[in-house]
Amino acid sequence: MPQHPMLSGGRFRLGTFSTNCSSGMTPTKAPERWNNSWDNNLKLAKMLDEAGIDFMLPIARWIGYGGETDFHGGVLETMTWAAGLLAATKNIAVFATIHTAANHPVVVAKQMATIDQIGHGRAGLNIVAGWNKPEYEALGLTLPDDHETRYGYAQEWFDLVRKLWTSDEHFDWDGKYFKAKRVKGDPKPLRGSVPIINAAGSPQGRGFATDNANFLFTPAIDLSRSKVEIQELKDQARAKGREVNVLTFSHVICRPTEAEAQAFLKYTAVDNADTAAVDNLVNLQFAHAHSFPHDLLAQIKHLFAMGHGGFPLVGTPDQVAEGIIKLHDTGFAGTTLSFVDYVEEFPYFRDTVLPKLEAAGIR
Ligand SMILES: Cc1cc2nc3c(=O)[nH]c(=O)nc-3n(C[C@H](O)[C@H](O)[C@H](O)COP(=O)(O)O)c2cc1C
Repeated sequence: MPQHPMLSGGRFRLGTFSTNCSSGMTPTKAPERWNNSWDNNLKLAKMLDEAGIDFMLPIARWIGYGGETDFHGGVLETMTWAAGLLAATKNIAVFATIHTAANHPVVVAKQMATIDQIGHGRAGLNIVAGWNKPEYEALGLTLPDDHETRYGYAQEWFDLVRKLWTSDEHFDWDGKYFKAKRVKGDPKPLRGSVPIINAAGSPQGRGFATDNANFLFTPAIDLSRSKVEIQELKDQARAKGREVNVLTFSHVICRPTEAEAQAFLKYTAVDNADTAAVDNLVNLQFAHAHSFPHDLLAQIKHLFAMGHGGFPLVGTPDQVAEGIIKLHDTGFAGTTLSFVDYVEEFPYFRDTVLPKLEAAGIR
């Protein structure tokens, strides 16, 4: 069986992020904001697949961030979303995003094996150990205050998933958080596992990622800082005998002229910013997560209004391509892309930026 499309190397990986969520990555009131309907996701997935884009990554979200638009109040559930997209595409990898606390590992192990069959070996799993306290409360769950407990729980969750994917025997599980009797994973993912993504910022989260993930997500804010961080993460993984690649997320506004791109940025992220939603988003990150370094978080509120804190790729096709090449040269293995309206805006990116990345030898 050929390598999983996400794991075969030789190019800077490109994916999309958050197309399953209302407004995508941009908390804007502008009527052009993303409509996350199934039909739009399907249309986009087919376009991405044909264009050779590597993956689609969804966000798992159970309550919105409020504001006038209730940013992320509308969300397609990620496992069923991935199943549908895998059935409708040929080459692209599609991830499900799973909160460990809200999904039983025996169920998830089987769901992943099922969608991996649907996609003939193109499924992937993004593991979220939890950070968004109001969301936990919405589900009647308690988010542990300390990261040790959050990631201890996530580790046992994933150990049980992995055992279901690797053991040919029935087994019992008697852990701190999970008990299981005479369980067996059948079927298993086609290659015995699937690519794992984890987006952690804290030392405990990074320990979890370097122990378990193929890809760690981290924001790209100060690229000189990212360069050091990527090297540290790779070294940390190598010391454990593992290879981890680092991905980031970017927001694209690509137009024929820089002035047009800047005007659209101002229109969506300044004039029409859903400021209450942006405030909630940033405040919740401060309160509960370490995925954005807190000293940088305060400086980049405008980037949350633009694309949820993603790296800005705003300008002409040349400028957008230059930005992506910079991410590559920093040591990132790839980036997700978001657009205010993915279906409307991706074709221009495909036709103008992708050839430049090919010419630069990174695709
Ligand atoms: C690329 C990416 C994907 C993420 N996906 C989700 C998600 O789908 N759902 C969610 O609740 N949080 C998601 N997060 C948030 C992180 O999981 C969260 O910030 C992280 O758990 C905090 O890290 P820490 O636990 O080390 O503080 C994502 C973050 C990034 C950067």
